[in-house]
Amino acid sequence: MEKQPILATRRLLLRAFDPGDAREVQRLCGDYAVAATTLLPYPYPDGLAEVWIASLREGIERGDAAAFAVTLAGEGGLIGGVRLRIDTDHARGELGFWVARRCWGRGYATEAVRAVIEYGFSTLGLHRVHAHHFSRNPASGRVMEKCGMVYEGRLRHHVRKWGVYEDVDLWGIVREPPPHGEAQIPSPLRRTPV
Ligand SMILES: CC(C)(COP(=O)(O)OP(=O)(O)OC[C@H]1O[C@@H](n2cnc3c(N)ncnc32)[C@H](O)[C@@H]1OP(=O)(O)O)[C@@H](O)C(=O)NCCC(=O)NCCS
Repeated sequence: MEKQPILATRRLLLRAFDPGDAREVQRLCGDYAVAATTLLPYPYPDGLAEVWIASLREGIERGDAAAFAVTLAGEGGLIGGVRLRIDTDHARGELGFWVARRCWGRGYATEAVRAVIEYGFSTLGLHRVHAHHFSRNPASGRVMEKCGMVYEGRLRHHVRKWGVYEDVDLWGIVREPPPHGEAQIPSPLRRTPV
């Protein structure tokens, strides 16, 4: 998608979702282990991935979403997704993310989420990024912590998942103002050393 750049990290390429990703999204998000700690339905119904990808693309066009398919650099296989729901009035974005079960525990979520937070601050001009996760899903909280987010509290029984009320933990990160005076330095003064 033209409105959104490709983000490259050490091991990953983050690109826009494409309608051709639908089958793989359905397969990976159709994993019970991924559905169990998100608001995804289980089993994952036919057609939902197509609708979801189309809605992300519309959100990017409107400017109220950023959404990246997480792929392995080199081989290019889809292994996850990271999205920001953007509230432009408040210059804030809400993060959501998932990684394919077979790839858990290798630092991929952390690497991808860090890149998207940086994109949100530096390119989208966000002031705050926030997220929440089921309190029983500490791996997600750990990803947020490793990305510099700060624990902001717990909402009790905030979500009903499969008929059970669940607590959720809140995390956030606020863009630090630049060091005094830095914003005034005209860019031509930032010369590359020869
Ligand atoms: C949560 C999720 C994205 C993590 O992905 P990942 O690629 O495995 O994450 P990372 O490898 O970058 O980091 C995971 C961290 O959680 C830690 N962790 C894993 N299980 C844990 C547990 N039960 N308790 C505490 N920490 C745990 C890991 O040790 C690692 O931290 P470390 O680097 O300090 O060792 C992945 O499990 C997932 O997609 N789950 C299903 C969807 C979901 O829950 N999404 C988040 C919704 S908000």
